[in-house]
Amino acid sequence: MPASPTATPEHIKDVNTRYHDAAAEDYDAKWGIDFGGVGQRQVRLKLVKALGGIEGDQRFGDALEIGSGTGYFSLNLVQLGLIERLTATDISPGMLKRLAATAEALDLEDVTTVTTEAERLPFADESFDLVFGHAVLHHIPDLDRAFAEFRRVLRPGGMIAFAGEPSRYGERLATLPKRTGLLVAPAWRRLVGARTRAVAEADQSHDHSLEGEVDVHAFAPADLRRLLGEAGFEQPRVGGEELLANAWGWGLRTVESSAEPESIPFRWRRFAFSSYIALQKVDTSVLEPHLPAELFYNLLVSARKPA
Ligand SMILES: C[S@@+](CC[C@H](N)C(=O)[O-])C[C@H]1O[C@@H](n2cnc3c(N)ncnc32)[C@H](O)[C@@H]1O
Repeated sequence: MPASPTATPEHIKDVNTRYHDAAAEDYDAKWGIDFGGVGQRQVRLKLVKALGGIEGDQRFGDALEIGSGTGYFSLNLVQLGLIERLTATDISPGMLKRLAATAEALDLEDVTTVTTEAERLPFADESFDLVFGHAVLHHIPDLDRAFAEFRRVLRPGGMIAFAGEPSRYGERLATLPKRTGLLVAPAWRRLVGARTRAVAEADQSHDHSLEGEVDVHAFAPADLRRLLGEAGFEQPRVGGEELLANAWGWGLRTVESSAEPESIPFRWRRFAFSSYIALQKVDTSVLEPHLPAELFYNLLVSARKPA
């Protein structure tokens, strides 16, 4: 359920801050976020798809991430050497605290965190070579203003790249695997020997129950092209990502969230992961190059600030 159409921008930002602050501690476990080889490969693939390719020695010197969360996208890109100096921003100080702790544990230098909303960036004009993010645009109330800010802080010729944005059609498609997951969850728990979760994930705290109010948009590719054009970017690129993998992934997440996490057997988790990766390969090599972007669950977008 998205935010109410009558919710004010201030309410949406307040809910996002409280929800993500409350979610920060368990966020990596809940979403299976990985900072090792698996996470790095996934994130690189997303950036390559968003930009339409990365040259062998391509690096971004000063990179600004919007809505960094716990650092899934950016800390993996830093580890890969694709980003030299990272400024990670988020509206939620709780998420950035986790990111900073992970950066320290991974021994990453040149990582700065700044709590800020996307629509008002506390940085000088032309400070960055890349402005990027993952799964954040759909939370931002005023996207015209945010895109104007992205352009302002980019150096001439700098790039913008966002991935993991929900597509309008994909969001509707996701309801099917979620409903199927709920239906088969009791039989699945018996099959794998997992225990029923005592307290439903969504009922764990008041702030967790805000989950349904944090999303503001689901996009058609044309919406993203319009935003890029009106903000004065050139070479716009909008693609679609994941169809089979995402449908399967939502089903898996739904059944798994019905069980106590530690009672889910390791061999199930291994199967779930390898089946997801196999379907992702089919999506990447067969479906994504041939089907229109709007059919996929996630949209990726990139463009350049004129030099
Ligand atoms: C779905 S999470 C994604 C986090 C991270 N990028 C990832 O992929 O794991 C969205 C993030 O955007 C942040 N966010 C929400 N609204 C925002 C806004 N108006 N400005 C900046 N960040 C925002 C949230 O606090 C949250 O950390």
